[in-house]
Amino acid sequence: MQILDGKALAKKIEDRVAVDAKTLKETTGRTPGLAVILVGNDPASHAYVSMKKKACDRVGFYSVTHEMPADISQDAIENTIKMMNQNTSIDGILIQLPLPPQVDTTKLLELVAPNKDVDGFHPYNVGRLTTGLEGFVPCTPLGVMELLKEYNIDPKGMNAVVVGASNIVGKPMAALLLNADATVQITHIYTKDLKACTLNADIILVGAGVINLIKEDMVKEGAIVIDIGINRAPDGKLVGDVDFKNVSSKCSFITPVPGGVGPMTIAMLLQNTLRAAQAHAKES
Ligand code: GUN
Repeated sequence: MQILDGKALAKKIEDRVAVDAKTLKETTGRTPGLAVILVGNDPASHAYVSMKKKACDRVGFYSVTHEMPADISQDAIENTIKMMNQNTSIDGILIQLPLPPQVDTTKLLELVAPNKDVDGFHPYNVGRLTTGLEGFVPCTPLGVMELLKEYNIDPKGMNAVVVGASNIVGKPMAALLLNADATVQITHIYTKDLKACTLNADIILVGAGVINLIKEDMVKEGAIVIDIGINRAPDGKLVGDVDFKNVSSKCSFITPVPGGVGPMTIAMLLQNTLRAAQAHAKES
């Protein structure tokens, strides 16, 4: 069994992004800029945004966070997005999800200029991904693909089972695997026999938010297991969706939590923001 070390790869990518950002600054005068919208007091969202901001600082990006109260109006957020779309020093716009229930999330995501949509959540970029065209790809599944590439794992022809069908993780993960010529199955809470699906998988990618959802008897000998879950265990520790201790002995490769997919998400956000800045520098 080999550990897929997301922390190490993320560091390597960050170093490269920092060098490329410096070059961009020297050649065009442009500093990559990320604007974040953070609504309400969800501790996890605050923690994620803080990590993203620190990552921007490490690689020399400009970043700004617009914090808004949980009872903010739809109009106020829309106006903020419109302002960010117009602001030429902002290359990437990120709306931290989830948003409070009174807010129409879909409408907000559709308002983000597609060429600043570094999270890849705008339907324009979602459509480009499913069509196999270039565009912004959601950071977490993109990070998984980078991690596989780093370890020379080619999903072509594999039976890939994605557990969880969210717009942020499961669906784009499935699209990327399909584009990479895997045979893809997406499972979700209404799937009748999850174990029957996962036992057939050469690679299992799970982002369901359920501690110990994937157990030893659900994994084929030699399978690759990618844990995209981040959960807080009762003892306060961060754990994924996979029973790592028991599953890892059956796997050929497995990602740890923490230190697997999580750091790759942030590295991909930096990479997407750099790409946006490089494109904007060419346009201006
Ligand atoms: N909430 C959970 N994951 C993400 C993510 O990747 N991007 C944003 N914007 N919000 C999230």
